[in-house]
This record gives sequence, structure tokens and C-alpha cells, in this order.
Amino acid sequence: MEEIISIKNLSYGYPGGTVALNDVSLDILRGESIALLGPNGAGKSTLLLHLNGVLSGKGSIEVFGRNIREKKRSELIKEIGVVFQHPDDQLFMPTIFDDVAFGPINMGLDRGEVERRVSSALEKVGLSGYENRYPHQLSLGEKKKAALATILSMDPEIIVLDEPTANLDPKSRRDLVGVMRDLKERGKTVIISTHDVSLVPGLADRVYVLDRKIIAEGTPKEIFLNTELLKKANLEIPPITYLFEVLSCFGYNCSSLPLSMDEAVKYLTDSIETEGGHIHLHLHEHTHEDLRRLKEKYGHH
Ligand SMILES: Nc1ncnc2c1ncn2[C@@H]1O[C@H](COP(=O)(O)OP(=O)(O)O)[C@@H](O)[C@H]1O
Ligand SMILES: [Mg+2]
Repeated sequence: MEEIISIKNLSYGYPGGTVALNDVSLDILRGESIALLGPNGAGKSTLLLHLNGVLSGKGSIEVFGRNIREKKRSELIKEIGVVFQHPDDQLFMPTIFDDVAFGPINMGLDRGEVERRVSSALEKVGLSGYENRYPHQLSLGEKKKAALATILSMDPEIIVLDEPTANLDPKSRRDLVGVMRDLKERGKTVIISTHDVSLVPGLADRVYVLDRKIIAEGTPKEIFLNTELLKKANLEIPPITYLFEVLSCFGYNCSSLPLSMDEAVKYLTDSIETEGGHIHLHLHEHTHEDLRRLKEKYGHH
């Protein structure tokens, strides 16, 4: 498949001396969903701000085969849209309509097309009817959706979301996950930065683990079943995966561990069907010792 983003040897230091990115290289193919996973301070936002030219470090970034330094801003915004971590950085116009219309107006589209794009973008994020609202009247969840709409209205091929679910209540989180799934299904290339491990299995085809440099790359399974890596990167496994490891200490037979609720349901259904309608759990002498070792494995005490 076509490579649409290629980052080579990117390094960036903030004035004052913090080295936020150290020799980062990665490649992203058209239509992929990528999670950029890393703890706070890992350099995720710094990396993503390079993709729309807000920051410019040492190294090269090619989008659709050409260095972004050679591209006009008007060209780049049609190809790649970055939704900032803090929506207040993205919403700066008097009304939501103005914010979502800002990109299309700058692309030189006529009034009718601008209006069509605004209403379609707001509909996609579930904010139809919010056109005349002031950004400061919105909840954080609504602001995050509005910030995403300001990017969707430009209809870029690549959509980048910086910590899309951080600090959201469960409903807003579900809504945003739904919008991101939808983008993926429509064939968009989606890049999501997060330290929220539960978000990754259902959304990402591939994961890059970042901690100033890329410390691992792989499928969600490869990443989450690598305990040493998670410890090193200060990340957890998804709680559902941990629960199944606990169950295995009680004798539940899991040859491989589920990463998501859907997978967990499938595993349980399979075990019930193959074991005569029951799941067999046991409490043996070694169970407590197994549990203790499990806690130690993930650094939980
Ligand atoms: N504007 C800034 N000035 C100085 N240092 C910064 C600035 N923004 C981020 N940093 C530092 O750069 C590092 C990476 O930050 P960031 O990219 O925001 O990480 P993440 O998004 O993964 O939490 C951190 O150590 C952070 O303190
Ligand atoms: Mg960040």
C-alpha cells in the first residue's frame, strides 16, 4: 500500500533545553489507523505538531511523497488535519459556525459549499444545531467534537487526533470513538496519540510506542503482550486483559489473552461452549503465589 507519511530522523528540542524528540522515524500507509502510544511528556504532541508545520525540527517529514517544507500551507491543510489536545487552542472564532467554516473559507470555497461542509462536519460529530453557540458555552466533550469538526470540514485525507478521549466522560468518549471508527471505515488515515491503553485495541491497526524516541512498533497484540516493554514505557495493559490474566491464575484456560471487551466475550462464549456450559475456576495452593507473581509482573503492589 502507498506510504503517505514518512518521518525520518526527526529531533526537536524546546528552547530551554528539553529534548522532546530524539531521532524519530516512522512510516504510515494510506488507510491505516495508527496509535501513537506514550506516557505524559513522551513527545506525542510535539511530534503531531510537526505534521501540520506548527513546529519544525531537524530531520525530514514527507507527506504524499514530498517534504512538507516544500508545501504551501493551503496544500498541506487539504492533506492533513491535526486536532489539538486542548480544544481551546483550536476554537478561536466567535461562534462554532465560524470556527468550522474557517478552513473551508480559507480554501476559497463558495458560500454554499462552505455551509454544506459546516453542516456535514457538525452532523458527523453529533453537533448539528450548534452553529450559533459560543465555544466557551460548550462542555469539554462538545468542544473536542467541535475541534474535530473544524478539521472534518476541510475533508483531509489524513486526520490526526491528539489525546482525543483525555478527561472525557463515558458518553463523550463513546461518541468520539464512534466518530473515529467511522473515519477509519470511510478509508481515512487516522493517527491518534494517547496514553489510554483501552482505546487502542478497537481503533488501531498498528501502534508506535513513543518515549522521546520510538521504542517499539507492532500490532496492538504484539505491544500489549510485551510486559517488559509496557513497564519500560510506563504504560499499562488494558484492564480487561489484566482481568483474564487474573482468571488464568484461578485455572481459566486462556491460550491467548483478549485485549477488548468484544474479544473477551468471544473467549468466554468459546470456553462455555467447549466445556459443557461452564467455566471452571479453581482455588489451589499455588493460586495466591500466581497472583502475587502477576502483581509483581506489572509492578502493582
Ligand atoms: N512549549 C514548551 N516549552 C518547553 N518544553 C515543552 C513545551 N511543550 C512541551 N514541552 C516538554 O517537552 C516534552 C514533551 O512534551 P509533549 O510533546 O507535550 O508530550 P506528550 O504530548 O507526550 O505528553 C515534555 O518534557 C514537556 O515538558
Ligand atoms: Mg500531549
